[in-house]
Amino acid sequence: MVKPPRYVSAIQPYVPGKPVEELERELGIRDSVKLASNENPLGPSPLVLKEIINDLTNTKSSLSLNRYPDGNGYYLKQALSRRLSVSEDEIILGNGSNELIDIAARTFLQPGDEAVMAHPSFVVYPMATQAQGATAIQIPLKKYTHNLDAMADAITSSTKIVFIANPNNPTGTMNTKAEFERFMKRVPEGILVVCDEAYCEYVTKPDYPDSMKYLAQGKDILILRTFSKMYGLAGLRIGYGIGRKDIIGEMNKLRPPFNTSSIAQKAALWALQDENHLQRTREINEQGKTYLYKELDSIGMKYVPTEANFIFMPLEHDAHTLYTILLKQGVIVRPMGQHEIRVTIGLPEENKRFIDALKKVMG
Ligand SMILES: Cc1ncc(COP(=O)(O)O)c(C=O)c1O
Repeated sequence: MVKPPRYVSAIQPYVPGKPVEELERELGIRDSVKLASNENPLGPSPLVLKEIINDLTNTKSSLSLNRYPDGNGYYLKQALSRRLSVSEDEIILGNGSNELIDIAARTFLQPGDEAVMAHPSFVVYPMATQAQGATAIQIPLKKYTHNLDAMADAITSSTKIVFIANPNNPTGTMNTKAEFERFMKRVPEGILVVCDEAYCEYVTKPDYPDSMKYLAQGKDILILRTFSKMYGLAGLRIGYGIGRKDIIGEMNKLRPPFNTSSIAQKAALWALQDENHLQRTREINEQGKTYLYKELDSIGMKYVPTEANFIFMPLEHDAHTLYTILLKQGVIVRPMGQHEIRVTIGLPEENKRFIDALKKVMG
């Protein structure tokens, strides 16, 4: 029987959730609210929807579904390059930033190498590392935050990548400018720092690191951003990476030629133009955060203050039990470990559904 390498068999598969419609049917519930995947509850910008529909129905448009997409993402890269003040060859587009984590691992890791990352952090980092036969060195969070000093201590001559999610998923915590600066000073040359900023647009604290500064200094850094979160395009799968030209060039060799669809590229291009939608998203997130903090405080539930669009809650009870009870009331959250859940900040009525269900459970 054909067998994959041992390091592939050893990977714990990612368990996808069931479609919401299926869950509702199984449980006999309706109007459930999904607060499990850190999506934008407002959806994409109305401008994006209008322009995409226009383009799809206009026979003269460049958005023809019978044609392959522009494999180089010319217009989107041009727009990003202007916005970020970097050249187009310092940008790589991905089928979600998830794909770029994978491409970075495939480009820079081989069996015997190590990648340093926090735990718990984004589950894809250890998977992408293991898939190359490399070893994931997981450093426990300190006060729910990346312990960058301990992560720097964990670097050895075998280390090739350090993954940092800032803000972190699942805890929503942020490393400060000073912490990041101290860390970057300690990272030896020849190690790629993957700075995953999937939630950067939600950050409200003023001392968020300026990762682009390190790119300008010529460091081995890859900054990852996505259109899945604040831009509300998770279903279209598009994200981007910013790095030195030689780093992006090497990654491009392993990027599938048509990895981002034409609709995704067009949608991202329009999404960049709708500053109002981002503002509305920020407001609804802040409003939701304030409401949830107040309600959680009032029932004495613990939570970790967040810089993203989700809240991590350490529990006294079993997380899976709470998840199941909430599910039966039509509220879908994400159990994270044995004693933690993560809840996405939703629309006001969705947040209220979560709080009402939680209050019922807590008696
Ligand atoms: C920290 C972090 N990075 C990357 C991603 C991947 O996002 P996408 O592939 O949708 O761009 C996620 C998604 O949840 C995330 O939480």
